[in-house]
Amino acid sequence: MAKHDKDATFVGDSRISAKRIPNIAPSYSDFPGKTEPFWPNFLLKEWMVAAVCLVGFLVLTVSHPSPLTDLANPNDTSFVPLPDWYFLFLYQLLKYPWAAGDWVVLGTVVIPGIAFGALMLAPWLDAGSERRPSRRPVATGLMLTALVGIFYLTWAADHEHSLKHSASKGGSGGGGNHAAAPAAPADTSFKADAIWTAQTSCMGCHGKSLEGGMGPNLQKIGATLDATQIADVIKNGKGQMPGGLIKDEAEIQKLAEYLASLK
Ligand code: HEC
Repeated sequence: MAKHDKDATFVGDSRISAKRIPNIAPSYSDFPGKTEPFWPNFLLKEWMVAAVCLVGFLVLTVSHPSPLTDLANPNDTSFVPLPDWYFLFLYQLLKYPWAAGDWVVLGTVVIPGIAFGALMLAPWLDAGSERRPSRRPVATGLMLTALVGIFYLTWAADHEHSLKHSASKGGSGGGGNHAAAPAAPADTSFKADAIWTAQTSCMGCHGKSLEGGMGPNLQKIGATLDATQIADVIKNGKGQMPGGLIKDEAEIQKLAEYLASLK
């Protein structure tokens, strides 16, 4: 006997299987509004779209590898850390006075909380069956406002950062060196003597291989200063450099003579 009136079941013909053939969709005329089964028809379409996106991403990462930024330099006090691009808009938000300082809760919790909360609650907030964007002005308007806001804030953060960055790079003699010191290009193959590498108090500012950092490069300091002048700088300091870091007179003398020999 047939399950439904519309279905016909062959009875008594041994050449035709009475069983349903697997993976052939049943008749959908019984389910108005449903046109295809989830498995396998719909899922197959989803998988095809996912595969195209995945291959697209692969091609993009191979053709445009992400650039490496500058080496980490603990001596560079002018370094401004910046969040990754997808957080830039939140970072920029906190620069505005109405979302920072006394109002920082607004910028960190309230505004992002409302925005992301609304996104999660969207299916319940907007339960209408209309799907065309032009017929859903409130939802479409809010979405466009949010998109424009995010794009603007991301752009503004990047723009302000590159303005500041180029100013500090171009201003004083390269890489944050002190303006008073001529910027000698750091020689990366330079190997400092053990007498320098023992001076941990100096290395923080002048670098492990005397290449400079917050203080100037000293790899050729002997060309401008002699041992007595260098000993004087170590004892009394100079500009932003503090004096009195080494107390032992003999050690100062030895270090000054070593530095003066670098030409
Ligand atoms: C707090 C960071 C700092 C520390 C620590 C430091 N220096 Fe300096 N040093 C500087 C700065 C900045 C200058 C540039 C001063 C100027 O020209 O106004 C400088 C300048 C010098 C100069 C003179 C360079 C020139 O061209 O005039 C010498 C030599 C020197 N430092 C050696 C040392 C030695 C040796 C030590 C360890 C005892 C040391 N510094 C520790 C920051 C530092």
